[in-house]
Amino acid sequence: MSKILVTGGLGFIGSHTVVELQDKGYGVVIIDDLSNSSVKVLDGITSITGKQPEFEQLDLKNKQKVEAFFLAHQDIIGVIHFAASKAVGESVEKPLLYYENNINTLVYVLQELQKLKSPNFIFSSSCTVYGQADKMPISEDAPTKKAESPYGNTKKIGEDIIADVCKVNPEMNAIALRYFNPIGAHETAKIGELPIGVPQNLVPFITQTGAGIREQLSVFGDDYPTADGTCIRDYIHVVDLAKAHVVALQRLIEGKNKSNNEVFNIGTGKGSSVLEVIQAFEQVSNSKLNYKITARREGDITSAYADTHKANNELGWKAESTLDDAMRSAWKWQQQL
Ligand code: WQD
Repeated sequence: MSKILVTGGLGFIGSHTVVELQDKGYGVVIIDDLSNSSVKVLDGITSITGKQPEFEQLDLKNKQKVEAFFLAHQDIIGVIHFAASKAVGESVEKPLLYYENNINTLVYVLQELQKLKSPNFIFSSSCTVYGQADKMPISEDAPTKKAESPYGNTKKIGEDIIADVCKVNPEMNAIALRYFNPIGAHETAKIGELPIGVPQNLVPFITQTGAGIREQLSVFGDDYPTADGTCIRDYIHVVDLAKAHVVALQRLIEGKNKSNNEVFNIGTGKGSSVLEVIQAFEQVSNSKLNYKITARREGDITSAYADTHKANNELGWKAESTLDDAMRSAWKWQQQL
């Protein structure tokens, strides 16, 4: 059975992608350093698919350990690379932690990937590389802008590193997926988002407020130039996002890629404001959310939602779930936590 390496495979998006890979019949080996995930996620994945993925707790910052791992797993036919630190605010406070953990690890994985007979690589990128794009919806040829945070910069640098490697190594096949805002959880509520500490992202903060874990949601500003004054984002169900990774990997394995380095925006193509997300939560939970309007958050952009034509037409992938579906799954997950 062809084996896929999923780094960061016990994380939020990684775990949902492992489930979709196994459902498509791929063998999976996970590397995770458990710095922002729990080994219990492995049980969640296994209880959904009935197959326990291989798992190695390994710090990808350790070059020797990465070499040894690949030596022992020469049967890998593709790598989906999620492993990275992803908290925007933390990256501003600790830039070197982010450059070491997000860049060094990418370099070590790419160095070993080159030695495999089928170096297929899917990179977890982010719409954050566009900064505040001038035009909505955002297409892949929109200019990338100076990142608002070291976290965003590591995604931009990561894409540049991959481009440089693909230029000199025609054997290497890469696809970067630029995510918009992943939310929700698997319908079984056996895996989902496990924010450590106070959630930075909107939806887990909403569901924790709904569950009484947080007192009140702060809406960071309602004086933006949008219909209701709050920021607009493209909230995509994490299972739709996971499926995009499997489709992208299959594209490379089947040699259907048009160049050896491609980029796709992965979103729903629909923008939703913060207040609309709150309304969706109140709808699906049949409750009133306790929130107040506060000052803007430093670094937030006004609006970002995807032009999904390239992913729809070339990748043959389209998001199927609505905002309500995603919020329903997020709430169901929160209630069982
Ligand atoms: C969404 C909207 C906030 C919390 C970030 C990263 C991106 C990706 C997803 C990693 C914004 C508002 C939020 C709160 C609020 N991360 N908000 N109160 O900032 O769009 O994207 O997370 O891959 O790369 O940049 O997501 O969920 O933090 O914020 O009002 O308590 O919700 O102002 O408008 P964001 P978010």
